[in-house]
Amino acid sequence: MIFGRIDATDDVQFDAWFGVLQRSEFARDGERGQGWHPDEWRARSVDESAPRVFRLYSYAPSPDRPVAVGALEVTRDDNLAFIEGNLFVDPTERRRGYGSAALTELERCARELRRPTLVIFVIEGSREIGSGPNRGFAVHHGYRVAEENVRRDLEWPRPPGELDRLWEEWTGFATDYDIISWTNGTPEELVAARAHLSAIMPAETPHVDIDVEAEHWDAARVRLHEATTNRMGRDLLVAAARHRATGELVGYSELTVSREQPQTAYQWDTLVVRRHRGHRLGGLLKVTTMRLLDAGRYETKKITTFNSKLNGPMIAVNEALGARVAGAMVAWRKDL
Ligand SMILES: CC(C)(COP(=O)(O)OP(=O)(O)OC[C@H]1O[C@@H](n2cnc3c(N)ncnc32)[C@H](O)[C@@H]1OP(=O)(O)O)[C@@H](O)C(=O)NCCC(=O)NCCS
Repeated sequence: MIFGRIDATDDVQFDAWFGVLQRSEFARDGERGQGWHPDEWRARSVDESAPRVFRLYSYAPSPDRPVAVGALEVTRDDNLAFIEGNLFVDPTERRRGYGSAALTELERCARELRRPTLVIFVIEGSREIGSGPNRGFAVHHGYRVAEENVRRDLEWPRPPGELDRLWEEWTGFATDYDIISWTNGTPEELVAARAHLSAIMPAETPHVDIDVEAEHWDAARVRLHEATTNRMGRDLLVAAARHRATGELVGYSELTVSREQPQTAYQWDTLVVRRHRGHRLGGLLKVTTMRLLDAGRYETKKITTFNSKLNGPMIAVNEALGARVAGAMVAWRKDL
């Protein structure tokens, strides 16, 4: 058996790697097209100098026929105390020890990268919430649950008038703020403030057992994020809240949709800084990004969002918008 890093720019290696992932996602969801598309993986796996870059690995009897695949997301400057990864075994090849062998190799790579903790993220489909194969496997290998997230889906489009009704309901709480929005490129005058919000985002959201620190963001990294998202074939629909009295940007929300495969739009970051919470800004930001989705006439059928089980306020907003539980995402942690 060979374990090794694959070259994401090599079609043969990448297609074989992606095939295992795709079959795993199909077995999990019972439908195709869930999860990242090939171009989206590639766009995030080729730039070695990026602040975050995926290294893709396969475990195989021969390089073009992997039975297990994985990835480690290497951060250049941020959160060096841990490394995030994932692992998939081809559904027809399970319970033969391949997952265990590939995991041992991923742990070795994490150690070589001098990351003391490995955090494996696993998505569970709606039919396996709390009972996916990861539950037995991860515990067997000495991992503990670091974080439990719930996936919610919001059917799209919304019934006529619903977004306006929610806007009316929430806007009276936010009279000190302006909500602004844009698609793709952040307006130049906001890019530094936007970088600051992205930097604090990881540390401002609730975590159970992962010591997440603020990240290093500047205007150039915001531009790189926008360019990478564009290379992934995605549009970024962004709303931000500005405090009228001070001009400060105090929150933002990003919705992203693939131009080629717009069926599922994804909610990415939503943040309202602590001292400006309680004004329904989270809901107003989301309604605003949804208005951009509406205006863009994307053929979207649902919006998917993941929230920590601890994030009561964000879950309340998503439920008020009409989102319903559709799966889970577990972060498993092992100190190596
Ligand atoms: C989880 C996964 C990687 C396991 O791969 P695998 O090759 O089947 O795992 P192994 O054969 O090495 O299993 C090792 C042990 O883990 C446990 N295990 C594995 N799958 C299990 C399952 N479905 N239910 C309960 N325990 C399981 C068992 O203790 C097993 O030993 P045994 O077969 O002697 O009983 C695979 O099912 C998969 O790709 N699932 C979807 C993605 C995923 O969950 N990845 C992250 C895992 S943390």
